[in-house]
Amino acid sequence: MYTLEDVDKDKLPKHVAIIMDGNGRWAKQRGKLRIFGHEHGVEAVRNTVENCAKLQIQYLTLYAFSTENWNRPKLEVETLMRLLVTSLRKEWKRLHKNNIRLTTIGNINSLPSKAQKELAEVISKTKDNTGMTLTVALSYGSREEIKSAVKEISIKVKNSIISPENIDETVINTHLYTHFMPDVDLLIRTSGEQRISNFLLWQIAYAELHFIDVFWPDFSEHHLVEAILNYQNRERRFGKTSEQLN
Ligand code: IPE
Ligand code: IPE
Ligand code: MG
Repeated sequence: MYTLEDVDKDKLPKHVAIIMDGNGRWAKQRGKLRIFGHEHGVEAVRNTVENCAKLQIQYLTLYAFSTENWNRPKLEVETLMRLLVTSLRKEWKRLHKNNIRLTTIGNINSLPSKAQKELAEVISKTKDNTGMTLTVALSYGSREEIKSAVKEISIKVKNSIISPENIDETVINTHLYTHFMPDVDLLIRTSGEQRISNFLLWQIAYAELHFIDVFWPDFSEHHLVEAILNYQNRERRFGKTSEQLN
């Protein structure tokens, strides 16, 4: 079993993003309702957040609810939203104690007002923390994010605030929800599915991808370290040749 000690602290990914998938199947395997899996998923979130903070990873982004997830049965959506509120209430002190700053990306206005209020409180209470930035993607869809960026930039062009010649990657970056963070270095998806499901399409352009055949509630320190070791053993060439890097 790998432990945090096995990680090379000099070659850490700056930004780790995780598609936390497989809660429903985890519950089904045990003959339980899907929500049972989501509840256990919260424990995996707590462990993963604290392990990443211990490793001094600077940015951790967790995909918790996609724009497409609104199409799930109403009861499941309501229960997930309730779980979000209770988890924030229960966990915020631990985040704060670990010097973690909470932020969100996504269409937060579409969440129930209770969830919005609870999020705003924890964001405000942890805003001066200087350790890891934990970003939760909620009602998040990458295409929607890109669409709103295009809209905002178009309005600025129309009002002569930006000229079309000056639209470069930096301008686009600054109009995305993720404008305050670097690109993703390592993207992990649990549950065995090998797809991106509308997550951070622009930001993962050069991320290393790690797909793992474990349902999210079972994701442990061992699996996190395994993903990071795997990342550390890859050569990130960014279009160059291997010889150019050495
Ligand atoms: C991920 O687990 C959690 C959310 C998308 C909210 P799922 O609920 O997608 O679980 P599976 O993929 O159906 O097993
Ligand atoms: C992706 O998981 C979204 C989150 C983990 C929040 P899904 O379970 O919704 O993805 P698909 O529908 O299988 O692609
Ligand atoms: Mg799923």
